[in-house]
Amino acid sequence: MTTEIKHHTIEDIAGGAIPRHIAVIMDGNGRWATAKGMARLAGHHAGVEALDEVLETIKAIGTKYFTVYAFSTENWRRPADEVNGLMHLLVEYLDKKIAKLHAEGVCVRVIGDRSGLSERVRQKVENAYALTKDNDAVIFNIALNYGGRQEIVHAARQLAQACAAGEMNWQDIDEDAFAAHLDTAGQPDPDLLIRSSGELRLSNFMLWQVAYSEIWITDTLWPDFRAGDLFDAVFAFQKRDRRFGGLKK
Ligand code: IPE
Ligand code: IPE
Ligand code: MG
Repeated sequence: MTTEIKHHTIEDIAGGAIPRHIAVIMDGNGRWATAKGMARLAGHHAGVEALDEVLETIKAIGTKYFTVYAFSTENWRRPADEVNGLMHLLVEYLDKKIAKLHAEGVCVRVIGDRSGLSERVRQKVENAYALTKDNDAVIFNIALNYGGRQEIVHAARQLAQACAAGEMNWQDIDEDAFAAHLDTAGQPDPDLLIRSSGELRLSNFMLWQVAYSEIWITDTLWPDFRAGDLFDAVFAFQKRDRRFGGLKK
């Protein structure tokens, strides 16, 4: 027996608050492929199709900031073949999609430690940003060689450096000053954090920025994730009572 899942639609969420920033931990590509008897990389390829549809949907609902976790600082622990395949997939994605993304007003930024990327990948992401940096329909952050702890340490070092150089007083280090040194400087924190494939953890993703994000986790594997899943997440978000430590209104 198969149970059909009935997803929400864009009409279901039209009347409610739309998250300004949605961040997604796109997980489950490997399991999706393995379950089909395919190589893990086939799962990553299928994941790009899910990403295409979700980005289209992000535009349709009017969310302005969209961040996806594409490769973590811990993902280097995977076999070289898979790491190379993922890097190649990103280059291929940018080659194929950057003109369309640019035409649609998407600003494509990479967050994470670029110094750890190969010259070829770094060039690609820098070119993508140079082309699209003035676009503002959607700010699309691709987290690549990204780690939340590394990002925080990097910000701390920059602030320490500014203090040591006499450009800043340590008393002036506050949350805003700190956030201004993160890769997401100038962007609102995610309102909604989505993780596919059921793991109940952050895996070092946006540790500073998700302090008050609403979290929505689905068992759906990322390659199967479609517009309807995003509507489900936003629908659930709209039902949440965001108190930020205060009391219910
Ligand atoms: C997410 O899918 C993509 C990346 C981490 C790059 P996984 O590759 O982690 O898939 P699972 O978790 O092994 O199924
Ligand atoms: C998180 O997924 C990283 C990305 C989605 C890019 P992982 O599959 O690497 O996380 P863990 O190992 O399950 O925590
Ligand atoms: Mg995984």
